[in-house]
Amino acid sequence: MLGNFSFMNATKIYFGDDSLKFLNDELPKYGKNIQLIYGGGSIKRNGIYDAIIEILKANGKNIVEDAGVMPNPTVDKLREGIKIARENNVDLLLAVGGGSCCDYAKAVSVSVHCDEDAWEKYFIRFEEPTCEIVPVACVLTMAGTGSEMNGGSVITNHATKQKIGHVFGENVMPKFSILNPKFTFSLPKRQMVAGIYDIFNHICEQYFSGTDDNTSDYIAEGLMRSVIHSSLIAVENPEDYEARSNIMWDATLALNTLVGKGKTQDWMVHMLGQAVGAYTDATHGMTLAAVSLPYYKMIMPYGLPKFKRFAVNVWNVDAAGKSDEEIANEGLKAMENWMRKIGVTLKISELGATKDMIEGIADATFILNGGYKVLTRDEVIKVLSDSL
Ligand code: NZQ
Ligand code: ZN
Repeated sequence: MLGNFSFMNATKIYFGDDSLKFLNDELPKYGKNIQLIYGGGSIKRNGIYDAIIEILKANGKNIVEDAGVMPNPTVDKLREGIKIARENNVDLLLAVGGGSCCDYAKAVSVSVHCDEDAWEKYFIRFEEPTCEIVPVACVLTMAGTGSEMNGGSVITNHATKQKIGHVFGENVMPKFSILNPKFTFSLPKRQMVAGIYDIFNHICEQYFSGTDDNTSDYIAEGLMRSVIHSSLIAVENPEDYEARSNIMWDATLALNTLVGKGKTQDWMVHMLGQAVGAYTDATHGMTLAAVSLPYYKMIMPYGLPKFKRFAVNVWNVDAAGKSDEEIANEGLKAMENWMRKIGVTLKISELGATKDMIEGIADATFILNGGYKVLTRDEVIKVLSDSL
């Protein structure tokens, strides 16, 4: 553990199949006006909306509806949400949904009392909030992003073909998040597995960096094993509570900053995936799945000892009598087999990306330097082309 760090997580978690009742404990801490943020209507179909409205009313709250947060929330929707919050003088932003609703709520929270343009300030200039922040809370209905216990907020600008994330500080993290694994049962299978791959890749992004003996890597390996194990059960039986609860908690732990402590971290798969998302508006987890194997095959020679360790400790590859390279390759093969088994997309062409978009996607890709290899632009093009 050679890196220096500080660690704090500001979010209180209520976890389990009875966790929604704790909304009653939390609501009295906030003012009367609640901006109820949700997506395209899944919460109305599965009953979560009615259950929450009942609790809000029982607690005497004024409910300000803010519906229609789309997957990959846009800057236009963000501006609408800021307007709603200002006009209704809201005291709490309650996001009910997946990462998109939760990310969006954070972006609204830092913008309500800020005169500057939110997109320019936070997503182009990467400034920190200097204004009053409206508190955010989350009732999670999709496991994947970890947004329920972190400061991340990813916003898409279709006009400029940019999808950009800002990781805000502790003061923007949800004050509390309610995690009921049963709320994820109604997810379509494609969304469930996209979330599962998102979780797995969040762990990989933090794992594939550094060479020191690091506690974080051991935690990461345990979490990856849990994701693999539970995902195989959940794809067979999506209503297996034990598997879905493990997946939900894996998602939170994978990106609540714990497993990245003391590490430089990579995040290149996310940069590539976000650029693909900016062009295609595809499901986040699928964009990651599609670029991962070409990317990891490219960087493997530069981080061979870690890829060997990944093969042995995560995928149980038998190392006896094999070269390091053979072992590492077997690890990636095992990962590919698992990805095929759970059913994630392995090609960006299946997500709507075409050959003529490659240059533009490469231009939209931020190149980071925390992993085992800083990619050249040609290498970015190669990874994307290998995924066509
Ligand atoms: O809009 P509704 O009707 O609710 O449907 C949603 C949406 O279509 C549906 N859904 C969610 N829960 C459901 C359900 N359908 C049935 N039953 C349920 N229980 O699922 C669809 C996808 O939801 P979304 O919130 O978009 O998915 P996800 O949680 O994957 O969030 C994706 C966004 O988060 C960002 C991504 O870039 C993307 O914009 N990320 C945020 C991160 C963070 N805060 O740290 C990190 C991630 O790497 C990621 O970049
Ligand atoms: Zn992600």
